Amino acid sequence: MIILGIESTAHTFGVGIVDSQWKVLANVYDRYTSADKGMIPDEIADHHKQVAEEVLEKALKEAQVMLDSVDQVAYSAGPGLDPALWSGYHFAKDLAARIKKPLVGVNHCCAHLSIGKVWNKLEDPCYLYVSGVNTQIIVSEGGKYHVMGETLDIGLGNMLDKFGRIIGLGFPAGPEIEKLAKNGKYVELPYTVKGMDASFSGLLTKAQQLFAKGVSKEDLCFSLQETAFAMLAEVVERAMAHTGKQELLLVGGVGANKRFCEMLDIMCKERGAVFYKVPVDLAGDQGAMIAWEGFLRKDSYGDVEVKPHWRADEV
Ligand code: ATP
Ligand code: FE2
Repeated sequence: MIILGIESTAHTFGVGIVDSQWKVLANVYDRYTSADKGMIPDEIADHHKQVAEEVLEKALKEAQVMLDSVDQVAYSAGPGLDPALWSGYHFAKDLAARIKKPLVGVNHCCAHLSIGKVWNKLEDPCYLYVSGVNTQIIVSEGGKYHVMGETLDIGLGNMLDKFGRIIGLGFPAGPEIEKLAKNGKYVELPYTVKGMDASFSGLLTKAQQLFAKGVSKEDLCFSLQETAFAMLAEVVERAMAHTGKQELLLVGGVGANKRFCEMLDIMCKERGAVFYKVPVDLAGDQGAMIAWEGFLRKDSYGDVEVKPHWRADEV
């Protein structure tokens, strides 16, 4: 069976093609970037419409698959930016109708979790999902995902992107902040953990104030990373202690950060657990994870239009 997955929830328009043996045949995407702005929903939707056909063509070519041998079309139904989701949905719906194959709408967050689990061949890990919008500690219980802890305000990736915009970095800012942090030293920033949850907006405000007072970009990038990553290492360790889980899986775009991975790896080793992550090309948003999730959910979901606020624990 060949499954084609379409991703369009945020900055990325992607088409991934996988088979039911979990082989990635193609994973092509085009990512919206900006030198001086964040994500503007209507601009992103226009970007997706412009690149869609070309990304599809490239993916089919890379996979060496004819369109009519695709058995199922999956798309990201949510959560995400409303205009971006509709552009992906319409493209997926037209495509499925064109080739007369079933359409399956999937949850983008669950797709991040599933691809990490499959890639690492894990049974039942504790998930740490850290992307632009989402920051959640998730476990699976009785066939459903349960969110044990999460951000009380903005996602860690968004916090980094917002700070990046303040100090003049383009979007996405995470990779640039990681580079600047290498030459920074520690300045104190607010560390806010409440039970199993964490909060990042106070951290952002304080860093912004210190930047205005002349503290260097390097020191602030380093300190933001150290503080935010330590907060998450603390709550995820608590979740592992509560549940007795011995495997931690980091998914989502912020998982590309080497220092974050190093801190989580140390925490896991100290408690006799094992840390897993996802290779960079499967960590951020792309279509292969949507295709795979569509295959897993083929009997439970069909055309669900778009669901901009669809949480993993509602699946
Ligand atoms: P969601 O899954 O919540 O819809 P998303 O669509 O924003 O999220 P991802 O591609 O999973 O998507 O993650 C993007 C985020 O990852 C951005 O905020 C970006 O700054 C951040 N990021 C990417 N690389 C790094 C890095 N090396 N260090 C820190 N953050 C990073
Ligand atoms: Fe994502």
